[in-house]
Parts: sequence; C-alpha cells; structure tokens
Amino acid sequence: MVFKIGLLGLGTVGIGTAKILLSPQGRHPLINELEIYRVGVRDISKTRDINISPNILTTDLEAIATDPDVDIIIELIGGLEPARSLILKAIEHGKHIVTANKAVISRYGPEIFDAANKKSVYVMLEASVGGGIPVIQPLKESLTVNRIHSITGIINGTTNYILTKMQKEGADFADVLADAQKLGYAEANPTADVEGLDAKDKIAILGSLAFSGFIKLEDIYCEGIRQITAADITYAAQLNFVIKLLAIAKQAPKNTNFTSDKLQLRVHPTLIPKTHPLASINDVDNAIFIEGEPIGQVMFFGPGAGAGPTASAVVSDIMNIAAILQTETEPIPHPLLSCTHQKYCEIVPIKELITRFYARFLTQDKPGVIGKLGSCFGKYSVSLESVVQTGIHNQLAEIVVVTRDVREGNFRQALEEIQSLDVINSIPSILRVL
Ligand code: NAP
Ligand code: HSE
Repeated sequence: MVFKIGLLGLGTVGIGTAKILLSPQGRHPLINELEIYRVGVRDISKTRDINISPNILTTDLEAIATDPDVDIIIELIGGLEPARSLILKAIEHGKHIVTANKAVISRYGPEIFDAANKKSVYVMLEASVGGGIPVIQPLKESLTVNRIHSITGIINGTTNYILTKMQKEGADFADVLADAQKLGYAEANPTADVEGLDAKDKIAILGSLAFSGFIKLEDIYCEGIRQITAADITYAAQLNFVIKLLAIAKQAPKNTNFTSDKLQLRVHPTLIPKTHPLASINDVDNAIFIEGEPIGQVMFFGPGAGAGPTASAVVSDIMNIAAILQTETEPIPHPLLSCTHQKYCEIVPIKELITRFYARFLTQDKPGVIGKLGSCFGKYSVSLESVVQTGIHNQLAEIVVVTRDVREGNFRQALEEIQSLDVINSIPSILRVL
C-alpha cells in the first residue's frame, strides 16, 4: 500500500524530510510505502540542496491540498497564512496533516482539531516543539496516566545557542544570531525566537496536552533575551547560576485563593542553579523537564532545531499515520492521537507568582544605600538571600541582590518605590531565579 504525500514547503525542514523519505535504506520498512507525490514551494527556480524532479514541483499549494490522490499533507511552509488555510482546506478534503508549525497550532488549534475530528483525520505535530525530541507523543501516550504538576523547558534552540555562546565565548549577541540563522535554527523572522514568542507558542502546545485544555496565548507571560548582558551572565556565574530562556507550565499552588486547576504559564530568562539538570543543556539543544504523579521527574533532551532532527520528528508522525491507515480500513480517530479538548485552561496572573528574583542596581556610591534598599524590600515583605556590591562603574556603585521566594506583585511594588529613591540611578536587570 503506497501513501501519497503532498509536501508543502521545501526549505530547511522540507529538504530534511524529503532526504529521509528518499533514502529508506536502514530505516523502518514502512518508509518504502511513502511517496513524495507533489511538492509546493514559493519559487520553483530556486537552487536547492536536494534532487527533486521538477515535474512534481508547483507553486499552486492549494492544488496539492485538494488533490484527491494525496493521502497526507505535510505543512512545512511556516507562518500563519496561507499555512492555516491550507491545513483547513486539506482537512476539508479528507487529508491527514503533519505540521511543524507551532505558530499556527498554538493560535488556531481549536479550529483545526475541531475540523479534523469532524472529518476523522489526524493532525500530528511532533516537530512543532523540541525539534527532534520526542515529547508530544510521550505527553499524549506514555505519560498520559500521570497527573502532570509542571513542565519546565528550554524549548527554543536559537536563544539557547545565543546564550551558550555569550556565556562560553563572550560572543556578541548579533553575531551569534546571524550564525543561528545561517545554520537554519531561527524562524523566518528571528524576532519570534529572541522575544520568546516561539517558546510561548510551544509552551501553549505542551501545556495544552499536559493539562487537557486549550491555552490562550494572550494569557502567557512572556519576556525574551534581548536585555541579557555579559555583566548578568558573569554575575550569575559567580553566584553559581546559568541564564537560560525557560518556558514553564505549572499547576498554581493550592495554598493561594486559587484552586489547583489553575495554571501558571510563562516564558522568561531565568537564573538556574548550575546543579539543575537544565543548566547543562547547551547550544541548539532543548530539554523538557516534566514532573508528575506517580512518575516523579523525567527529562527529554536532544537537538531542538535544524533540518535533520526536525525532519526525524516529521517523518515519525507520517509513519504513525501510515501505520494506522495500513491496519484500519476506516480510520476512527485513535483516542490518544487525536486532540479533543473541550475547555480553555485558566491561567493565574504573573503578579501571583511566587519566585526568587535577581536584580542589579546602579546607585550612588555613598554610605547607607544598601540599608535603604533593604528597608524598602522589607516594607513589602521581600526578604533577601544575598546582597553583593560588585564594583564601581562610571562613579556608580553596582549592587546585585538575590531575594528569597516572594510574591511577584510585592517585589514589583518594592522596586517601584526603590526606583524613586534619589540614591538609585537605574535598575538594569531584573531576572527570576529557579
Ligand atoms: P524555511 O526554510 O523558510 O522554508 C519554508 C518553505 O516554505 C520554503 O520552501 C518556501 O518556498 C515555502 N513557502 C513559504 N511560504 C510559502 C508560500 N506562501 N507559498 C509557497 N511556498 C511557501 O522554513 P523552515 O525552517 O523549514 O520551517 C518550516 C516550519 O518548520 C516552520 O513552521 C518552522 O517554525 C518549523 N520548524 C522549523 C525548525 C527549524 O529548525 N528550522 C524546527 C522546528 C520547526 P521557497 O523555498 O520557494 O522560498
Ligand atoms: N526557531 C526554532 C528554534 C526552530 O530556534 O527553536 C525550532 O522550533
């Protein structure tokens, strides 16, 4: 039985996918049953690092999505439109979908899954989070009996690559970003990576699977890595931390006014103790650390972006669909593979978060400044774990503070008051600590 594939997009991931499909030797024999039937691109005349017959290339992507001979559509064009419309069109025509497009799934998941369930087709998205790391399937299947307490992930390869190079080589932000773009890690618009928006899309998807409800992107707190400086990386290291962009989905603590079915959802650079398993995840690698009951802690780790790893995830999804189609004449959506959420998760505001903070102050260099900082923090119940005067820069004293666990709202109130003190010049960095 041969399954005909309509491949939309032949860029970084599309080429990686086609390369796997065109070299089945030594892989699972089911790959021999997959035929790249048509390929849609924007520019047919482009030179590509793959040998694809020009006869199957087209710029008419809708014709592929509606072609009665195509069984499975692989959407690898990225962006919102025409990706969303093509996916919906293909579903309408009874095609199964494989996509790596976290931007579309995190925004239009409910619409897409609803349409897919009505048509009894699958929408598979392993490549949308964590590149080559199998994490979507484990969340849907192997971990599904667990009550998930938290997911803490490094889920953007580009920013992890940038932070690692800044930390290990003192590299310049813009140079490393250009490097990540050349290596095919970054999004078409790398602002999505750097501002944390790509990680936000991904944690919405993971959170939705783990906590069985859709998540509205606007409910997720998000900060990117642009404000991270070499000074913060150095001070963090001196305090035995590394800085990583973390995406977190977690049950809100039960001891607040909130019931336990509310969640915290956030993306921000975070100081992680060097002893934490996530601290050693470097370069383009990603890792997703999951805590649940009864499993305890489990971590998924591997390459988070790039052609080969991402294509591995794409083709694994195609194989899953092909295996089902091969064994079932009438594909009834498999209860663990399809997505059938009925509700939206409730997310608590960031001001309710309880966390430690790192803050760096530039102040006048005179006696009593640390005392004034301490009394302002005390007034808002912020207790301090450490206060270090790190040096003098341009006649200003630099003071680094790490707090104990504090309610974010209280910490922000204290900072507002500190900001207005005449001895304070500026607060260049405020970061959360894991
Ligand atoms: P890419 O290199 O920019 O490739 C995009 C492909 O789609 C190109 O072949 C392009 O055609 C085609 N395309 C784009 N817009 C089109 C349109 N309007 N009409 C027709 N063709 C169009 O992107 P990528 O890096 O492979 O990413 C693809 C998807 O995978 C995105 O959703 C991305 O977020 C996701 N993803 C990427 C990675 C990664 O490491 N790169 C990892 C995980 C997930 P031309 O070649 O003719 O320009
Ligand atoms: N731009 C994304 C990243 C690609 O850097 O993680 C993988 O989703």
